[in-house]
Amino acid sequence: MTNIAVFASGRGTNLSAIIKAVKKGKIQANLSLLVCDQPGAGAVGRAKRAGVKTALVKRQDFHGKKEFEDKIIEYLEESKIDLIVMAGFMRILSPGFVEKYSGRILNIHPALLPAFKGSHAIKDAFEYGVKVTGATVHFVDEKMDHGPIILQKAVVIEGNDSLGSLENKIHKAEHRLYPEAIRLFCEGKLKLEGRSVKVL
Ligand code: GAR
Repeated sequence: MTNIAVFASGRGTNLSAIIKAVKKGKIQANLSLLVCDQPGAGAVGRAKRAGVKTALVKRQDFHGKKEFEDKIIEYLEESKIDLIVMAGFMRILSPGFVEKYSGRILNIHPALLPAFKGSHAIKDAFEYGVKVTGATVHFVDEKMDHGPIILQKAVVIEGNDSLGSLENKIHKAEHRLYPEAIRLFCEGKLKLEGRSVKVL
């Protein structure tokens, strides 16, 4: 079975959706580890309540990015991790790290990539005035919010939507989309061909 590590820095609602899908048997995998860089993050409490082991790795405790990532790799190897699932982990992984886990790192982004990359995607899309936005799950490569797209879900922005209601809609979409993409990965149904991902 696939051993999964979730990387998170924030609330951890995607982590909870993944925990739920694993518990229900929708994803046949072990959720073996949470890697978190923020001690106060909601994700830490959610992992604790679900009995998921947590590795708290604070960037400021390390001299450089390499030492920080080496510590993370130590945890990943200790738990024999096969798949890394980034769920609101607000740090860019170095090219060396990405290369090491190439084809085995997923990320979720709250917009329809390649539109609205970055850390304020929902607000950026709302303020731009687009009529449709959504969520994207993609493989991670060395550029931010850039790697091959696995699944996307569109969310329509209605005239009466506020930024808050749009955030709720997108998070709801994410909580369905991410477990589905992880399931496909764990069942060996994702075939990477250059920039394109075939769902078998
Ligand atoms: C999610 O909306 C995710 O798409 C976003 O962080 C949020 C984490 O929420 N990620 C990015 O913006 C990455 N560029 P959560 O902690 O409740 O799962």
